[in-house]
Amino acid sequence: MSQKTAVYPGTFDPITNGHLSIVNRALKIFDKLVIAILNNPFKAPLFSLEERIDMIQKALKEKTNVEVDSFDGLLVDYVIKKKSNVILRGLRALSDFEYEFQMALMNRKLNREVQSIFLMTDYKWFYTSSTIIKEAASLGGDISGLVPALVNEKLKEKFGY
Ligand code: PNS
Repeated sequence: MSQKTAVYPGTFDPITNGHLSIVNRALKIFDKLVIAILNNPFKAPLFSLEERIDMIQKALKEKTNVEVDSFDGLLVDYVIKKKSNVILRGLRALSDFEYEFQMALMNRKLNREVQSIFLMTDYKWFYTSSTIIKEAASLGGDISGLVPALVNEKLKEKFGY
């Protein structure tokens, strides 16, 4: 039987427990997952690409069937390059839907062989996002339990406390 691989793309600045929940659930469906970090020079991430790769690798070090990689250019081209035809995305609130729908339709227009699939987030992570976690952390808020411990430490380092 051939291996079924899905590509889970995103900015992951930084990885959260919400992302990890999607990864763990996707591994119940797919044989292999490629976590693909967009290398976007126009976005100014808090963490460098190397830092983001390192944090994800450490958070998922027990998973042998997860690859952490970066990409630039079109996502659909990258998916084909990784010998996959699945883009995996997590969905939280309704507010995610419009953006995700637009992106899925554009990706479908660009390559009809590539399918987008969505996993609903666990209710525990409904309100979290990398952006809101960074904001709380930057103001000294306690974000433990929302990100892996090593990410919490890196956030504290970044914000100097
Ligand atoms: O975590 P994010 O920031 O919501 O992830 C967005 C991402 C990386 C999935 C999206 O920006 C993307 O796929 N960029 C690659 C460029 C591309 O293929 N664009 C055309 C389809 S919308």
